[in-house]
Amino acid sequence: MNIGIDKIGFYTPHLYVDMNELAVSRDIDPGKFTIGIGQEKMAVPPVTQDSVTLAANAALEILDDADKEQIDFVIFGTETGVDSSKSAAVYVHELLGINPNARAIEVKQACYGATAAIQMAKGHIALNPESKVLVLGSDIARYGLNSSGEATQGAGAVALTISANPGILALEEKSAYMTADVMDFWRPVYSDKAFVDGKLSNEQYIEFFAKVWKQYKDKSGFDLKDFEAITFHLPYTKMGKKALKPVLADAPENVQERLKANYQVSTNYNRNVGNIYTGSLYLSLISLLEQKEDLERGSRIGLFSYGSGAVGEFFSGILQPNYRDYLKTESHRNMFALRKKVTVPEYEAIFEETLPTDGSTVKLDIEMDPAKICLAGITENMRQYVNKSK
Ligand code: HMG
Repeated sequence: MNIGIDKIGFYTPHLYVDMNELAVSRDIDPGKFTIGIGQEKMAVPPVTQDSVTLAANAALEILDDADKEQIDFVIFGTETGVDSSKSAAVYVHELLGINPNARAIEVKQACYGATAAIQMAKGHIALNPESKVLVLGSDIARYGLNSSGEATQGAGAVALTISANPGILALEEKSAYMTADVMDFWRPVYSDKAFVDGKLSNEQYIEFFAKVWKQYKDKSGFDLKDFEAITFHLPYTKMGKKALKPVLADAPENVQERLKANYQVSTNYNRNVGNIYTGSLYLSLISLLEQKEDLERGSRIGLFSYGSGAVGEFFSGILQPNYRDYLKTESHRNMFALRKKVTVPEYEAIFEETLPTDGSTVKLDIEMDPAKICLAGITENMRQYVNKSK
């Protein structure tokens, strides 16, 4: 039985800051951000969006009534959850009106969370072929104003349904993974900003890719020539390129050219959104599938997932015959077209506007936010969510 990605959607907030303008205001040559890091625009989340609303907005565009009936498991991958106890999946389950006879949980391992969720979903579908699993990967990446990681922030979410006989990508059996205790990036519970050893994180990412790729090759017998494209977790778009380069060196010229060209296409959306942590790899997959219109059915696509701390995994899938019918290309084109640029001072003001942590009540102006699902405020320590489309 084929199991894999049936539908895939994403959501990013309606505001962004231009990386050239951010560089100038930080006294940095814009080439460093646009070429050295490889980012053009960075999503800026208003206070009315959090990891729950981003995920719910991403799922809203892909789920129909039949999906909501069939889904019996919601798995929410995030490292910027809103509660240490209650899972973000429960909020999304309610906001979208999913079948009450469902499990709903949150999983965490930095940017690897959504991949863990997909692998768990695969096992669930193997045992329950009639059901569907909703996997969410949603985060707001915050390092701080004027910090070394500032240019690699972002915000957004992906939503995927995992099912038998999937519409988009059938996941293959072989997968290679590894874990090692590395302090390359972490966020203690008392901090709303991540701590990072940038150089170490880059080195570990590259090393993890080389190791899981070798392990995958040994397990599967496949080589680079068997892949139409390889997609990467993209904290910034130069990162995957750095990891791919040494591995590509042994491949024939035509394979190198194909994988490099398709890598470029797979970075388009990420270049305009920034790092969305758990969702980044899948945003890159969406970018590839929606932007490269002549990808052939039956093509093998590789996926490299990396979550600092650290866990890495390489796995693969086969494009299904009518995969284009399952994509939301037009809706994503509109989402990008309707975004509004904010100035650097406006971005800084939005960054500083945080929610109270002392239990006080706050009411937020959700009319300013065009998203269908918003955070409307906090009352007695409880987040108040609104689905305007209900
Ligand atoms: P930095 O020290 O500001 O930048 O940190 P740099 O000095 O290393 O320069 C970056 C690149 O720009 C270099 O290219 C420069 O040469 C180039 P490279 O040598 O890397 O190819 N450059 C220029 N290019 C053109 N024109 C110019 C120019 N000037 C310089 N004028 C860093 C960069 C990414 C480390 C920092 O932003 C950071 O710490 N970010 C956060 C950590 C991160 O994203 N790590 C990535 C791997 S870890 C990961 O992916 C997991 C993560 O998503 C978290 C999770 O799992 O939850 C982060």
